[in-house]
Amino acid sequence: MEEIKAELEELREEINRHDYYYFVLDKPKISDREYDKMMQRLVELEEEYPELITPNSPTQRVGGEAIDEFAKVEHRYPMLSLAKSFSQEELRDFDNRIKKIDENIEYVVELKIDGLSASLIYEGGKLTQAATRGNGTIGEDISHNIRTLKSIPLRLQEEIDLEVRGEVYFPKDKFIEFNKERENLGEDLFANPRNAAAGSMRQLDPKVAATRPLDIFIYDSPNIEGKSFEKHSYRLDYLEELGFKVNPQRKKCKDIDQVIDYCEYWTDHREELNYEIDGIVIKVDKLALRNDLGRTAKHPRWAIAYKFPAQQKETKVKDIEITVGRTGALTPTAILEPVLLDGSMVGRATLHNQDEIERKGVRIGDKVIIQKAGDIIPQVVKVLKDKRSGGEKKFSIPKQCPVCGAEAVRLDGEVVISCTGGACPAKLKEEIIHFVQRNAMNIEGVGPALIEQLLENKLISDIGDLYSLKKEELMNLDRMGEKSSQNVLDALKRSKDNSLAQVLFGLGIRHVGSRVAQVLAQNYDSIDKVAQAGEEELGEINEIGPKIAQSIVSYFSQEQNLKIIKKLKEAGVNLEPESLELSNTLEGKKFVVTGTLEEFTRKDAKEAITKLGGRVTSSVSKNTDYVVVGENPGSKYEKAQELGIEILDEKGFRDIIDS
Ligand code: IVH
Repeated sequence: MEEIKAELEELREEINRHDYYYFVLDKPKISDREYDKMMQRLVELEEEYPELITPNSPTQRVGGEAIDEFAKVEHRYPMLSLAKSFSQEELRDFDNRIKKIDENIEYVVELKIDGLSASLIYEGGKLTQAATRGNGTIGEDISHNIRTLKSIPLRLQEEIDLEVRGEVYFPKDKFIEFNKERENLGEDLFANPRNAAAGSMRQLDPKVAATRPLDIFIYDSPNIEGKSFEKHSYRLDYLEELGFKVNPQRKKCKDIDQVIDYCEYWTDHREELNYEIDGIVIKVDKLALRNDLGRTAKHPRWAIAYKFPAQQKETKVKDIEITVGRTGALTPTAILEPVLLDGSMVGRATLHNQDEIERKGVRIGDKVIIQKAGDIIPQVVKVLKDKRSGGEKKFSIPKQCPVCGAEAVRLDGEVVISCTGGACPAKLKEEIIHFVQRNAMNIEGVGPALIEQLLENKLISDIGDLYSLKKEELMNLDRMGEKSSQNVLDALKRSKDNSLAQVLFGLGIRHVGSRVAQVLAQNYDSIDKVAQAGEEELGEINEIGPKIAQSIVSYFSQEQNLKIIKKLKEAGVNLEPESLELSNTLEGKKFVVTGTLEEFTRKDAKEAITKLGGRVTSSVSKNTDYVVVGENPGSKYEKAQELGIEILDEKGFRDIIDS
């Protein structure tokens, strides 16, 4: 047996070493065949002697079963974000602020990897937990998925406690292959490598993450037990020695000019990297100075992100398409030859309105330069008129709605041209999409494709009709089986309990966004009262100006809209605000639940706590207020005793919840 143990240990060490050469250093030392042979031997031995399997054996990267839900993890040190800068001037301002405290400045500049940040905890040299950033204070436990990344050591050479932070990313070449495969399988494509990385980490089943070629760069460590460093750069070097993958492009700079050179270099060369970067991070190197500089609520004062100017690409306008929006506006969109722009494939760019088309002189067939406005919406910057061949076609927005054929008019003083058709299906489709969206009624399973079918088959003629859909009707539609039909009905049923604010927002009243909807729900005790209010009365409410008031009154004065409200009411949709007396007796209190409770599942207990304003965390710390202990509690119970935290049995817990 001792011999077997020794062989197992040796195999694991060898495999770990070769994982490191291959995945961290990118310099394999043995052939794939030799590697596979070792792995095969390890698997065989572990199958024969399952009692000798260790959780951090290389065979256990895809360990265990899928999880039911993501546990919340409270970060030991908050995961802050970075202040942004967009120009050299802003970088110089940052430098001047730092120099007020220390003249002898030293910076480390790093690439800002565009992925998903993760915190990894090692205890005694073993990876014990990994979490997403979440809101910076509380993230989600993604240990099961993180373990599948081969460049992450499951066991370190030294038996130390530490926390590292890094960015999980999807390499560009692998992303293109991956999307191609998905396309062949008829699956939805990911817009960019970052979404693909985030989507992979959000899988409940680690077997899925294991098939994704994800990687990580470690960029920081808030704590390495028993070690202290004078500089961030030394700490990164140490992490690299421990076997972590640290980005090799990091560089020390003696002054801000060197920092600016680095930023300029990577603005021009970012395309050459096999991963997406969305900027540069500039960090003060001396850790003592970082302490002196401190932080604001959100950002450290010792670091700043430099964001690249929006990328510009040349492409061709293949066509101009008109879409009819929820308000009836006819909006022209340029259909482009697809290009990769700032990390996502772009095939469309908005042209806003006729004035914009004329101002920019866009014609069908033109070569144009595009970029993303505010990092998100692609737009045409300019037309390359020199590249015209003569075959380009001018375009004008039609005088008739392309969807319903009604007259399209341009109202005085407005730039948009709008469809006048009262029952235009395009408007209706957009209205319904708006109604079902997540921050309105959040009706899962009702997407644009289903809405189109519902309209085509005349199963609905307004949002109120959604609630009288029948299972057989749904099952008769394309790609709707019994299960998906039932899911839609269940989602509709659940939505009846939504708040009044969600309904008011979902109705799509012009100028009533989710904030205004909330304000209305706080000021009126039913939708009928909102409907009866006059402009003057509404205008007296803080945050509701005359334009909004006018729009609300005009909405509720139309017969067809009152019919919708009637249908919602008859279907049993909640049209009254929740009681304002929601109790917050557990506001700010932190709970940990361990062991099995008789009357509550974990989910119920958590719900009961959060409803009263409390929070549930997964590990016990000195900040925990209560530990709820059921049958067969785990080590959390001992830890709570050790730290002197108030322990509640099920009855005690019930008393607190009921009090
Ligand atoms: S340092 C106190 N370094 O950018 C902030 N962040 O806005 C410490 N990121 O959430 C972050 N590459 O996800 C740092 N080399 C790098 C980074 C990096 C990417 C991300 C990280 C963080 C966000 C900050």
